[in-house]
Amino acid sequence: MVKETDSLREAVLRALKGVVGTYGIAVIDAQRPGEIVVARNGSPIVLGLGEKEMFAASDVAALIRYTRQVVHLEDGELAVIKADGFNTFTSDARETAKEPFTVDWDAGHYDNGGYEHYLLKEISEQPDTVARTLRGRIDDRFHIAHLGGLNMDARETRSFRRVKIIGCGSAYYSGQMGAQLIEELARIPADAEPASEFRYRSPVVEPDTLYVAISQSGETYDTLAAVQELKRKGGRVLGIVNTVGSAIARETDGGIYLHAGPEVSVASTKAFTSTAVAFALLALHLGRVRDLSPADGRRICEGLRRLPEQIKEILTLEDRIKELAKKYADSPGMMFVGRVRGYPVAREGAQKLKEISYVHAEAYPASELKHGPLALISPELPTVAIVPDDELLDKNLTTLGEIRARHGRILMVGHRTSEAADDCIVVPKNEVELDPILLTIPLQLFAYHAAVALERDVDRPRNLAKSVTVE
Ligand code: AGP
Repeated sequence: MVKETDSLREAVLRALKGVVGTYGIAVIDAQRPGEIVVARNGSPIVLGLGEKEMFAASDVAALIRYTRQVVHLEDGELAVIKADGFNTFTSDARETAKEPFTVDWDAGHYDNGGYEHYLLKEISEQPDTVARTLRGRIDDRFHIAHLGGLNMDARETRSFRRVKIIGCGSAYYSGQMGAQLIEELARIPADAEPASEFRYRSPVVEPDTLYVAISQSGETYDTLAAVQELKRKGGRVLGIVNTVGSAIARETDGGIYLHAGPEVSVASTKAFTSTAVAFALLALHLGRVRDLSPADGRRICEGLRRLPEQIKEILTLEDRIKELAKKYADSPGMMFVGRVRGYPVAREGAQKLKEISYVHAEAYPASELKHGPLALISPELPTVAIVPDDELLDKNLTTLGEIRARHGRILMVGHRTSEAADDCIVVPKNEVELDPILLTIPLQLFAYHAAVALERDVDRPRNLAKSVTVE
């Protein structure tokens, strides 16, 4: 029961004893407007330290125009903020000590840079953001990756027998790409699972498994809860995170920051590609302490270095992709198919299209078509087929033939044209393991231009939030 004699701090502490669930709240007393009490449990609260002023927000992005000095509250923590400072304490009223931390993003990062939408700006930034993810992390002497943030020596790095990757939405799809990179380059069994499912199924946590949590925002509640469950059971968890100092970055034992800069548009693009690049570095790192040869290490290092220029080349295809997006945008739905390396590309392509254009889009592994979804194929349901030039090329071209025989229209994304497809987007070739990263980019432009053609709210699609900080 809150008493009239309580200070605001006491009143909030007392009231929170009766509160269950997740929250991030700010409480003000109209009689004493000089202080605000904020409290966090599950949902983020960040304090901003200004000159004789203080701020509280749920995201650093809201503070950056005013200050770059921030303090993150932990779960169960509260703060009293006044114009001249703040103090923090736990739910049992014990004072806590917090060190402010300087955000290295500035207000310019939140500018749309003259682009019509943040999404197009963020797609166009990818040559730079990928270069930033790579910067200082490739060693040309030993053809290895420098990933000091992992906090693991070579012996520990060798000790893992499995890798389990968790994330939500596009982060999960980038994790699928990451699992393939790790299996191919490091020959460690790896798989990805939606964090939102993982956390609810009482996962078996094995001591010789390396867990990797992915999040652009670092605040996705389902991913954070999965990390906390893993940590509680003694799992070793790395984070691949974009937002420095975010909850997932703080909870994990080490990891890789993307350095992609803030992502404003709800649909993830540059964080997706940077995550895939971070996985390529992690796979190289895990591979080179195992059996990946120096020659293959060198091949991957050189491939990684080529990515920024190749992304620039893909961006020059924008006008052609825009035409294709207009051509297909009024379809009632689209199928996306890919085999093995192409499957996460297909999933992410379908995700981008559905979330910003609201066109129904589903992705299937190409080999699964004949086990059911082939029944859907008709001229009204075009297919986007991911067809890289790899050892599965012939199989993929056979799939195109199967779709064609059912009068399905095909937009092929790959490294060559084919008469089996109605339209083709040809991207530059890299190493087979890295090609999925490049194949993703035209699908981002395709979704963007489809959404523009359909006059959607590209940066703020209906029903979605940038950071899903609730269960
Ligand atoms: C991506 O386009 C989506 N907006 C969404 O799936 C997102 O990737 C997911 O919610 C995870 O976000 P996070 O990377 O910030 O954890």
